[in-house]
Amino acid sequence: MSKPSHLFIFDTTLRDGEQSPGASMNKDEKVRIAKALEKLRVDVIEAGFPAASPGDFQAVQAVAACIRDSTVCGLARALDRDIDRAGEALAGANAARIHTFIATSPIHMERKLRMTPERVLEQAVHAVKRARRYTDDVEFSPEDAGRSEIDFLCRVLEAVIAAGARTVNIPDTVGYSVPYQFGELIRTLRERIPNADQAVFSVHCHNDLGLATANSLAAVRNGARQVECTINGLGERAGNAALEEVVMAVRTRQDHFDCDTRIDTTQIVPCSRLVSSITGFPVQPNKAVVGANAFAHEAGIHQDGVLKHRETYEIMRAQDVGWAENRMVLGKHSGRNAFRNRLQELGIVFSSEEELNAAFARFKELADKKHEIFDEDIQALVTDASLDATNERIKLVSLRVCSETGETPQAHIVLSFDGEEITGTALGSGPVDATFKAIEQIVRSQTILRLYSVNAVTQGTDAQGEVTVRLEKGGRIVNGQGADTDILIASAKAYINACNKILQTHRRAHPQAADV
Ligand code: KIV
Ligand code: ZN
Repeated sequence: MSKPSHLFIFDTTLRDGEQSPGASMNKDEKVRIAKALEKLRVDVIEAGFPAASPGDFQAVQAVAACIRDSTVCGLARALDRDIDRAGEALAGANAARIHTFIATSPIHMERKLRMTPERVLEQAVHAVKRARRYTDDVEFSPEDAGRSEIDFLCRVLEAVIAAGARTVNIPDTVGYSVPYQFGELIRTLRERIPNADQAVFSVHCHNDLGLATANSLAAVRNGARQVECTINGLGERAGNAALEEVVMAVRTRQDHFDCDTRIDTTQIVPCSRLVSSITGFPVQPNKAVVGANAFAHEAGIHQDGVLKHRETYEIMRAQDVGWAENRMVLGKHSGRNAFRNRLQELGIVFSSEEELNAAFARFKELADKKHEIFDEDIQALVTDASLDATNERIKLVSLRVCSETGETPQAHIVLSFDGEEITGTALGSGPVDATFKAIEQIVRSQTILRLYSVNAVTQGTDAQGEVTVRLEKGGRIVNGQGADTDILIASAKAYINACNKILQTHRRAHPQAADV
């Protein structure tokens, strides 16, 4: 039997994933996720869209500086200034890729770009040549390829390959394709484009019809050798193909695929948890591979079968995708070195001794309240600690909440706002409502609360609660997170974190908005 060929995994959690409303990440968060993706052994990490804002530029630069084993990629519209920004941001990378794109569907060319097909073709070729000034590794995407005319698509792809694109990515931008047809599209392109053998064919599928993984796999069956995907299927609107689904489908059904990835599948669940805790997007319990129920057997008959012979109802092993029994890793007697070693094993590195000391102090505080500390606790604690580090204008000083049967709950809060301590007191329909109202008395954020959710980080009533608060103001959505063994404190922290994000001035370009 011949060795399976390599299927490249291009992770776009930090770019398309970040385009999910409310999922924006700061530089440190992106670096943490990038390190986890490197450990997962993805081939390419799309770290962001450097032209979007100075913050996005710096985040791509920081990821480029710390990743050694994966290629770091920056997205650029087919515009000189975007490509130059991407080239500059990636200058420190061990292996850099520029991913440039322009729309090729009639509706996008006419209505969004207001450009003729000939101009689009010219600009695509020009962009690829310009990107080659910075790196040999250039990827081109004809945006909305799923709704583009096949003859024009062939012309554009042939021309960009001749101009030096080493990867051509076929995006189903609006999630309109269905598997049989999308597979045929990839086959036809590979057959009709004369220089197709000089580029890797890639696919980038959105999940608007719930078909992103199926479409990606159909493309792989028809010769695509790169799949663009995200952890937990995060991404614009209904998201992108989920990395964990694509990787595990190909690995589990090797009888149907003549290729495989280099992914270390045991890192899938830790990576999924990290992305969920940083973005505040919970994973639904019945989500394939990474959902809490993915390997849980409720019905007695299933449990009986699994106990007798695992394969009766399980097609993958939980431990192969990184589900481990909750392990007690540290306790209140653990010292600084043990804490530092565990952080290292989890891929968490602090940039200074002060940050490590602050995290260790929080760990000790937590260990006083909760005597068994699990990996998930440490992840939540570090996410929570990094919230304080980002120059937040509002900080929680103290919170007292009274809640009693038959009485209206009352919250009394002290915040430090731009260094000044201010007190707020409010009644509410419940203790969380009272807490948020007390914060609002001080902050007056003028936002609408869109989501409030609490998740237990581990099991047991002494578990930390991880709270996500989503606020909206004038169409802008932000997510705030907070973790604590006291869920009212976790809630206050999450609300304050969201308010801090709302207060930050924010000018950021969307890559797929028209700007030519
Ligand atoms: O969905 C899409 O078309 C994209 C491109 C930028 C590749 O995200
Ligand atoms: Zn996309």
